[in-house]
Amino acid sequence: MELYDTLKSYDQDHLLTYWNDLSTKEQSQLTQDIKKININELNGYVTRALAPVNNGHSNNIDQKMKPIPSEHFGSATDMNDENAKRWEVLGLEEISHDRIAVVLLAGGQGTRLGVKYPKGMYNVGLPSGKTLYQLQAERIRRLEQLAFERTGKKGVIAWYIMTSEATKQQTLDFFEQHSYFGLDKNNVILFEQFTLPCVDFNKKIILAAKNKIATAPDGNGGLYRALREHGVLDDMSRRGVRATHVYCVDNILVKMADPVFVGFCREKGADCGAKVVEKNHPDEAVGVVCLVDNVYQVVEYSEITSETACLRTESGKLTFSAGNICNHFFTLDFLKNVCSLEQESQLYHHVAKKKIPYLNKDGKTVTPSTPNGIKMEKFVFDVFKFSERFAVLEVKREDEFSPLKNADKPDGIGGDSNPRTSRWALMSLHHRLIASAGGQIADQSGKVITVEESCSNTEREYPVQVEISPLLSYAGEGLDNLVRNKTLPSPVHLTLQQ
Ligand code: UTP
Repeated sequence: MELYDTLKSYDQDHLLTYWNDLSTKEQSQLTQDIKKININELNGYVTRALAPVNNGHSNNIDQKMKPIPSEHFGSATDMNDENAKRWEVLGLEEISHDRIAVVLLAGGQGTRLGVKYPKGMYNVGLPSGKTLYQLQAERIRRLEQLAFERTGKKGVIAWYIMTSEATKQQTLDFFEQHSYFGLDKNNVILFEQFTLPCVDFNKKIILAAKNKIATAPDGNGGLYRALREHGVLDDMSRRGVRATHVYCVDNILVKMADPVFVGFCREKGADCGAKVVEKNHPDEAVGVVCLVDNVYQVVEYSEITSETACLRTESGKLTFSAGNICNHFFTLDFLKNVCSLEQESQLYHHVAKKKIPYLNKDGKTVTPSTPNGIKMEKFVFDVFKFSERFAVLEVKREDEFSPLKNADKPDGIGGDSNPRTSRWALMSLHHRLIASAGGQIADQSGKVITVEESCSNTEREYPVQVEISPLLSYAGEGLDNLVRNKTLPSPVHLTLQQ
């Protein structure tokens, strides 16, 4: 049989082990799955992706790293700063002219969180019960309104959502069920990224079932191929989009199309930009944005020595402190360039060792307790190397970054990047916004709980319940009239109607 011969020539004939157990329909499903794979190409990806690991290679990256030069760097840690105000106005102008789109990376499988639906549909347990998708939709609506109030022109922020086989249908159904959370559905554009087969450590493709190959989305850097092959860039051109803000679904604090960031990148004339937060401590496991051989790159903590990670500037700040938070600015021209086949094929896959459900000798699907294979993923930030004018904006972590990666601990205490910490981060931010607008919050016994007191224990629930609807305020604006000189009893949920 031809299929067998082809597979045999690539040492992948084990994929037909259960052929005789399959119905005709199942045989044809498996055949189709196999025919979709370009095994030659896949072998090339795997070999290239595994090469550094096999060589035990260190690449001596430390010697080649340089921090971000000051002319490419900006800070928006103080929103009253003149620069931040100027950038914000510039950004709102851009938004009001329909020039800014947001691109959501929502194709991940969310295995660590462990729910059976896309992460964007997760409700972290805020007083409103809003999901991540809803919070994001409402931030877009509020920002369009803000741009209108500032410029007198109502602009549209088109929302492009990259899904995958794992998330597409449920995401689509969810938006339909919720009437796109008040957005015009024509401005919410879903497109699907591609998948790649998962392989074991001997480069053999893994079977997920007797008639099904184990596949995984090709990483958030699969964005570029998906944008190209689904004609998304043409859609952006038609709408007059000039630049995009690309971000991850799991950051509850994400400031979509943040006008400060947009304005900053515009003023710098950047084709590509990254928002960063200051690294907490030298051995925090976060990638840092820096120059390597004079090219912008994200260097993972695991790639450098602790000596390099501990280097400090004269002011005492870590030399390599620009922690990447997956908040990127790309002009449309830059995207068109990097999405071309020529450039995009220069982005290499990275290896992620994962626990991939596989068929055991008895033909039963088993989920291993330790990693048994690899998924190959491109990373969204790998295009930095193509930038000709890069810009980096540092923002406050506590205002802008709290990713949801893991499930809660069984006792609900501690842990990191989980639903509890997401809730905590958002409530703490909203508490601070109310405090800076002159209000205070009391707990159920009537005792005023200050921001400082609330922050003294980050391992437990936030001591008061506090939430501000994004429809009311995007970044703390417009709260004065509602809260100044008032003590609000917890639970506080400020909404547009109040
Ligand atoms: P993560 O790398 O944290 O992956 O994705 P994940 O799927 O959310 O979670 P785990 O690793 O399976 O537990 C960071 C961001 O990149 C997106 C995710 O949806 C998230 O917004 N992503 C990841 C994609 O869009 N596609 C991918 O193939 C992988």
